[in-house]
Amino acid sequence: MGKNQRIRRHPILDFERGKRVRFQFEGQWLEGYENESIAAALFASGVKIFGRSKRFNHPTGWFCGIGKCSSCLMRVNGIPNVRTCITPVREGMRVAIQDRKGMLPDEPDIKVAKKEEHVQVLIIGGGPAGLETEITSTRLGLNTLIIDENPIPGGQLTKQTHKFFGSKKEYAGLRGFEIARTMLEELRKCGGRYLTETSAIGYYGKDGKHKFLAVQKREGDYHLLEIKADNIVVTSGASENYLPFPGNYLPGVYGAGGVQTLMNVYGVKPGNKALIVGTGNVGLIVGYQLLQAGVEVKALIETMPCVGGYLVHASKLVRLGVPILLRHTIKEAKGEQYVDGATIIAVDENKQPIEGTELELDIDLILIAVGLSASTRIISQAGCEKMFVSELGDWISIHNASMETTIDGIYVAGDGSGIAEASTAMLEGRIAGAAIAEKESYNSEEAKRIKEEAFSELSKLRESSFLKAVTAGKRRCQQKWDEVKSREK
Ligand SMILES: Cc1cc2nc3c(=O)[nH]c(=O)nc-3n(C[C@H](O)[C@H](O)[C@H](O)COP(=O)(O)OP(=O)(O)OC[C@H]3O[C@@H](n4cnc5c(N)ncnc54)[C@H](O)[C@@H]3O)c2cc1C
Ligand code: FES
Repeated sequence: MGKNQRIRRHPILDFERGKRVRFQFEGQWLEGYENESIAAALFASGVKIFGRSKRFNHPTGWFCGIGKCSSCLMRVNGIPNVRTCITPVREGMRVAIQDRKGMLPDEPDIKVAKKEEHVQVLIIGGGPAGLETEITSTRLGLNTLIIDENPIPGGQLTKQTHKFFGSKKEYAGLRGFEIARTMLEELRKCGGRYLTETSAIGYYGKDGKHKFLAVQKREGDYHLLEIKADNIVVTSGASENYLPFPGNYLPGVYGAGGVQTLMNVYGVKPGNKALIVGTGNVGLIVGYQLLQAGVEVKALIETMPCVGGYLVHASKLVRLGVPILLRHTIKEAKGEQYVDGATIIAVDENKQPIEGTELELDIDLILIAVGLSASTRIISQAGCEKMFVSELGDWISIHNASMETTIDGIYVAGDGSGIAEASTAMLEGRIAGAAIAEKESYNSEEAKRIKEEAFSELSKLRESSFLKAVTAGKRRCQQKWDEVKSREK
């Protein structure tokens, strides 16, 4: 892959890269832009190797691009374990691949300013679910705050270029990144607060009083926030699933959503010839977006006998001549330093490879799009009870229809409460925001009306064949919540 992979012309997006900056990578000066992450600036400069595996010293790259997987950790200005995919690049920054052993910062004594806050509603995660929670609860009169560890507000909406279906109230007809802008504008108008580059790192509540510690990064400085909150809504989203196969560690094997971030948020071309593993909506949508960014899509493969996502997205790709091979999987990624090919293989009805059906593909990019898992690490620390719900993608916090978990005053919404999609994430956020206002007696009548309206809209949306399994999963979750609460009595 050549140097300077920045996309100069795109059919939908204009990239506002900001001022040019110079930074060092392994002692060599490179150029980036102030609105880019370190990872994006490195990738755009042709750097693909971000680290070495601990056991075998294999070259490794980044994967998720949204701060969830830790494969992009580097040493930045002498501080180890910095997630370079969510840290903006700055003038004069020193970036280096870190040692495979554990290590300490250059400065043993990092000064951290501490600040305390008290809010009625703390929202962890500012995607569609978190934004809607804050818009609703702020309008109903509560004092609220969103914290989000990404430098760009809006969660996964910021990288979505397709137009949404569904209801006008959930912004149908707008593209994902336009929805994020509209919601942020709504938030600004109603006086909600949103802190970017602020990670919730631990729950320290006691005796029914909730407290989270968060770290805020600002131009290389760190601040510790101690946030006491009457209510907490965790809207921390989801992370992409990984897939085991020989060579899966190689730079060039990325999460499909990670590639979406690189292309659509930062305007950097991820490679030249791609294979996509998985035909759910994320795989299909990213396939089309790769074509828009000038990447050749050699094939999409799927172990199931049918496409997993919406037919409308699949048809678009087929019309453009992209092969979708059903009942196929990846056997191996090839390459020494980076991906330079892949072997795929047909599978039988039990998903077992059929020897002798191998096909060699000439590619430099493998996108893994095999589903998402709810991000529950931060809510688990608070001690909310969890259950495994296959229809919702993984282990999730048990919650009721008002999105309250097994701990009073702690709520969940969006993908973090079970994998679905953005419109239902907004509705769940609205329900959580209204339920809190009702409980705290803030505009109770109006809060109740908003909540009931959102319930009815949500159940209509979940009637679609695509979301039927989600409805079944949410029902099981409510039953479990009832069980837990009756046990407590
Ligand atoms: C990788 C990926 C790609 C997707 N692509 C598509 C697509 O192309 N089309 C489509 O229709 N849907 C797509 N979806 C689904 C859709 O975007 C989601 O259903 C929707 O965004 C869920 O909204 P949310 O608010 O629950 O979570 P998100 O939008 O994921 O927002 C969660 C936010 O929480 C923040 N966060 C997490 N942990 C912490 C913490 N400890 N401290 C502070 N902040 C934290 C994250 O930074 C993030 O901004 C995708 C989802 C993912 C995960
Ligand atoms: S945490 Fe940066 S790539 Fe996953």
